[in-house]
Amino acid sequence: MFSKINSIGLFGLNAFSVTVEATIGAGQPSFEMVGLPDAAVQESKARIRAVMEHLCLKVLSGHVTVNLAPASVRKIGSMFDLPISAALLEMGGYISTSDGDAFIGEISLDGKLSPVNGVLSMAIHAANNGVKRLFLPAANAREASVVKEIEVYGVDNLMQLVDFYIYGRGLSPEPHYNGFDVAKTHYADFAEVMGQFAAKRAVEVAAAGSHNVLMLGPPGAGKSMIAKRIPSILPKITFEESIETTQIHSVAGIIDPRDPLVKERPFRAVSHTASSVGLIGGGTIPHPGEISLAHNGVLFLDELPEFDRKSLETLRQPMEDGSVTISRASGTVTYPCSVMVIAAMNPCPCGNYGNPLKKCTCTQNQVKAYLRKISGPVLDRIDIQIEVKPVKFEELSNRKPQESSAAIAERVQKARDIQARRYRGTNIRANSMITSDMISEVCQMTPDAEDMLKRAFNTLGMSARAYDRILKVARTCADLDGSEPILKNHISQAISFRSLDRKYWDRI
Ligand SMILES: Nc1ncnc2c1ncn2[C@@H]1O[C@H](COP(=O)(O)OP(=O)(O)O)[C@@H](O)[C@H]1O
Ligand SMILES: [Mg+2]
Ligand SMILES: [Zn+2]
Repeated sequence: MFSKINSIGLFGLNAFSVTVEATIGAGQPSFEMVGLPDAAVQESKARIRAVMEHLCLKVLSGHVTVNLAPASVRKIGSMFDLPISAALLEMGGYISTSDGDAFIGEISLDGKLSPVNGVLSMAIHAANNGVKRLFLPAANAREASVVKEIEVYGVDNLMQLVDFYIYGRGLSPEPHYNGFDVAKTHYADFAEVMGQFAAKRAVEVAAAGSHNVLMLGPPGAGKSMIAKRIPSILPKITFEESIETTQIHSVAGIIDPRDPLVKERPFRAVSHTASSVGLIGGGTIPHPGEISLAHNGVLFLDELPEFDRKSLETLRQPMEDGSVTISRASGTVTYPCSVMVIAAMNPCPCGNYGNPLKKCTCTQNQVKAYLRKISGPVLDRIDIQIEVKPVKFEELSNRKPQESSAAIAERVQKARDIQARRYRGTNIRANSMITSDMISEVCQMTPDAEDMLKRAFNTLGMSARAYDRILKVARTCADLDGSEPILKNHISQAISFRSLDRKYWDRI
């Protein structure tokens, strides 16, 4: 006797087709599994044996061999419990599947199905590879139902499957998910941030051109408060972006099974205690790091100088590339990580250097050493660097409603629309991604703007890198103004966003 069941495996975000073949021959009852199964898959043997006995399903009465094909690909995870069980059930005559049926899912000892991670990636793969009906744990059904091209069946236990195939009852296809447009926005709003006009303007420019930001200021100045609100002024996440981000969150097991799609741009705050594996991903079976969980959103690095220097350095390449590739003995995985990095820091160990309201108790050397913890190459990747001073008491106490996130978001969206038209047909999505060979073409200045930049370049002893960065940010300021040429005031704003370099790091 012989049976064959379709399934899907997953490594990182890469789903692949797996065929589970079962045969039974004469001899002592035994159960063998071949085809590069990893330890977790080997363990499913014991579970499946127990379940079959528990349900009094007689399928293991001879020498049973299960093969997972292709044998060249390592099978990792617990999602093969269900397809292996289905192969045994089919061999025993309890079910009879069709060519377009596929199965994924973990089974617990009592025969109930448990959810698995990474279902969206597997369901997309299924749809692209001829699967018509996907059977998986009921808790995963909503997530898979996002994929419109397949019918999804949520299954609670194995007996339901037997009932369904023999009597055609008990299971019905999950209605396709269509909740993407149902608003679920609970962003904190900029209306709650009193005063801080300069900082708000800086993050508006950053959001408009997708520039990274560093905020420097004493504790309590409102840096975290401002950072948290940045997703609320970014363009609404698109369906395609949501699918990308949801796949990563699904692999990490952090989605809400009842409302599986990520419907807002992620905001991931990481503390300096995070390891580099926590930041960029890793592990024996490489899982995504914070920078990938923030894909299409914001990665917030609070207390930047407290981060391990090595961890910060490992962020550099992914920030540049928009993706992280992790190689392990088990294989190589690439996770996307297109993020806006927002960093915050105190100016010195006590936090009050430069604070008009409190006295700094650090020595000049302590202040210098603190600032030097952030390397030049990391600073170079942050286009906008601003000082955040504590809000004045009068501004805080009058509690007048400030401009709402929605109003700022409208201006940001207009500037993004201009960029989308300008960069159509290229892989540039925002001004922060302009390459140096494009600069002279897309950053045309008026003569007096050019004059101003030239003077700043000479008097400040600006580096070529800083020059490019200022032009990119000035491009965004001009786009916010709806101006094609870059004007003088756009240049002066962009220069002001680099003032920390001079004041705190003696460089530009
Ligand atoms: N501009 C402001 N408007 C309203 N509340 C503010 C403002 N600045 C600070 N606060 C209050 O102070 C708290 C501390 O701010 P926080 O963002 O944590 O500061 P930081 O991150 O700079 O240390 C905030 O949660 C908020 O209640
Ligand atoms: Mg803070
Ligand atoms: Zn200090």
